[in-house]
Amino acid sequence: TTVHVLNGPNLNLLGTRKPEVYGTATLDTVQQMCRETAAELGVDLVFRQSNHEGELIDWIHEAGRDVKAGESIGAVFNPGAYTHTSVALHDAIEGVELPVIELHLSNVHNREPFRHHSCISPVATGIIIGLGVQAYPLAIKALHQRAN
Ligand code: DQA
Repeated sequence: TTVHVLNGPNLNLLGTRKPEVYGTATLDTVQQMCRETAAELGVDLVFRQSNHEGELIDWIHEAGRDVKAGESIGAVFNPGAYTHTSVALHDAIEGVELPVIELHLSNVHNREPFRHHSCISPVATGIIIGLGVQAYPLAIKALHQRAN
């Protein structure tokens, strides 16, 4: 079985973008951490990043199809700034009944007010906020736990 890890806009800049907020680990490092966790759990990993809303929507649909086919346990999703704006991503998740762990590296609630609202949280299975990159392995383990 597969676990999908999807990353939204600007997360390709991880490591150099506001390291005081997001840390110094790169997205490649995060992918490596996820690969190790997936290997420990005996699941396959699909790890992706896009700066384009429509591409993220297509990937949510794909993950949903995989869940329906019994081939995926769900998705870990860091939607980046689309968290705060995207009704389309909300509808995509709702439309495919995909188990989603919404993940934010930073604690969005102690930052600017425009980060306090999430379009994704109402359709998320669970949420991990403010724990940095260690949240990725935690979220994968949580999806695995609830599926077994
Ligand atoms: C983020 C928080 C968002 O507000 C921001 O736009 C991001 C990253 C996080 O991981 O903390 O791009 O999702």
